[in-house]
Amino acid sequence: MANVVVVGAQWGDEGKGKIVDWLSEQADVVVRFQGGHNAGHTLVIGDKVYKLSLLPSGVVRPNKLSVIGNGVVLDPHALASEVERLGEQGVSITRENLRVAENATLILSIHRELDALRESGSAGTKIGTTKRGIGPAYEDKAGRRAIRLMDLADLGSLPEKIDRLLTHHNALRRGFGLDEFKPEAIYEELASVAPKVLPYMDAVWRLLDEQRRAGRRILFEGAQGALLDVDHGTYPFVTSSNTVAGQAATGSGLGPGAVGYVLGIAKAYTTRVGEGPFPTELFDETGELIGQKGKEFGVVTGRKRRCGWFDATLVRQTVRTSGIDGIALTKLDILDGFETIRIGVGYRLDGETIDYFPASQGAQARVEPIYEDFEGWSGSTAGARSWADLPAQAIKYVRRIEELIGAPVAVLSTSPERDDTILMKNPFEG
Ligand code: IMP
Repeated sequence: MANVVVVGAQWGDEGKGKIVDWLSEQADVVVRFQGGHNAGHTLVIGDKVYKLSLLPSGVVRPNKLSVIGNGVVLDPHALASEVERLGEQGVSITRENLRVAENATLILSIHRELDALRESGSAGTKIGTTKRGIGPAYEDKAGRRAIRLMDLADLGSLPEKIDRLLTHHNALRRGFGLDEFKPEAIYEELASVAPKVLPYMDAVWRLLDEQRRAGRRILFEGAQGALLDVDHGTYPFVTSSNTVAGQAATGSGLGPGAVGYVLGIAKAYTTRVGEGPFPTELFDETGELIGQKGKEFGVVTGRKRRCGWFDATLVRQTVRTSGIDGIALTKLDILDGFETIRIGVGYRLDGETIDYFPASQGAQARVEPIYEDFEGWSGSTAGARSWADLPAQAIKYVRRIEELIGAPVAVLSTSPERDDTILMKNPFEG
């Protein structure tokens, strides 16, 4: 029985929510392993709508264990308020169904402020972040001055840790011409939230090892997308964590062998929020139409997403950097009715043809996509539940994508409705 990792194969917002929800129903344990409350998705279960950004998707279903791994940066206030909000919707979250890694790094108000401050700077330095403090928190983790969840259980040791943190942050603040942070205020912030989050604390690596040995099915729920990976993405226009599948192991404390089937989620076209290169971006009415039909607005920030054609070169690259075994292709129905559909199949860079996305920022900005034009379909794919329901051209489109990216489509999603799905392979069955 394979454990399954779900990762976004583009720049996030690939429609992971529906697929992860379907998989979490079959899982015993659902684990978040990177990112923080910069993620956002909506789960529709029966007549209830749940909005999650930090908690693993399994949390809204009974008898599932949800785990926030050490690779996540945890805003304790965001956790407390998400737990409270779900409680108001009738979802009870206790130590029985939620555990958080004791060694998870905390996001503090100083991180949120710094993130927002940097984003308000000149256009050249702007990343277009979610301003949740994600980047600054990961910086402190790598800088070995972070405050971690376990530190809240030892309030006596906090002042020293806060001093170490502020030596760095107040130097920055002085540089920006801002008032320094007061250590007492940070202590208060942490001491007051500690009782709300400590009940969930655990040695997650051990817990997951036990669960794994007991043969329980583990679903690793990735956030963002592989092209936002801090190493493999469109640096510097990326998030601050590793979003590729390998992080499922590191970010939860299991060895790489614990990761079984890697399911990549890709939209039948491409979107991105925030700044950064996007070779197949559309600036015309076709892009507008895709955005409108696809309701391309961010769940967390409400920002309009940039839209463009499917870029097979990019997805082929993420298939490799994440070791994707199969793809869940989403939102095919949004392409219904287009006379011509284009697929990016390679790039031209400085007069040469290349079949990969170059690593350098300059080259990423200069590449021009090479397109293959594809005749669209007049019939509808919306709500299709079997191949027989699909127009012949739509099937050809999916088959061509498979060829170009070098991975099979395991799941095809044809509407936000759970049952509007064509299943070729259940990832949990290896
Ligand atoms: P950060 O993660 O807030 O630091 O933002 C860095 C980049 O990642 C920005 O371009 C964000 O728009 C993008 N990003 C972060 N989270 C998501 C997400 O859940 N979906 C799509 N893009 C995201």
